[in-house]
Amino acid sequence: MKRKWKTAVITLSDKGYAGEREDKSGPLIREMIEHEGYETAEMILLPDDQKMLEEKLIELCDEKKMDLILTTGGTGFSPRDCTPEATLAVASKNAPGIAEAMRYASLQITPRAMLSRGASVIRGETLIVNLPGSPKAVKENLECILSSLPHGLEIMK
Ligand code: MTE
Repeated sequence: MKRKWKTAVITLSDKGYAGEREDKSGPLIREMIEHEGYETAEMILLPDDQKMLEEKLIELCDEKKMDLILTTGGTGFSPRDCTPEATLAVASKNAPGIAEAMRYASLQITPRAMLSRGASVIRGETLIVNLPGSPKAVKENLECILSSLPHGLEIMK
């Protein structure tokens, strides 16, 4: 039987965290991964705060033993965007091919894809992947990686 990969979804958004904007990207990720057979174990909303994200990533990897963490938002050039910095700070290994594949596929759709600084890394036995923030970008980025992730997740154990 296909394994149900235990996944945490984190939305990074100052406005979402303050209740000033509805988070549509987190629920869209959930819908897309569950359709592929992944299990959504946690849905988290955080502000664009590097320390808070680092602490949450460490907890989700080391204590809650997630197989996969997908973040959305905070990958651009705004002064508050710090998702890649937090992700790289907690990494034990870089896994750049996933971020490269997403940018490559996204560049066929919009030249603005080059403006996402999203990273993909491994911490222990957890894979962490940064997605951009808009629902459109989430859909386009996730679509191109979801079917390849299970093989990577298998061989990490
Ligand atoms: N990738 C895809 N596939 N589609 C998009 O519409 N938007 C880009 C980029 N990646 C986009 C995309 C834009 S406009 C920005 S600014 C960056 O992602 C960063 O987005 P973020 O700051 O919401 O993380």
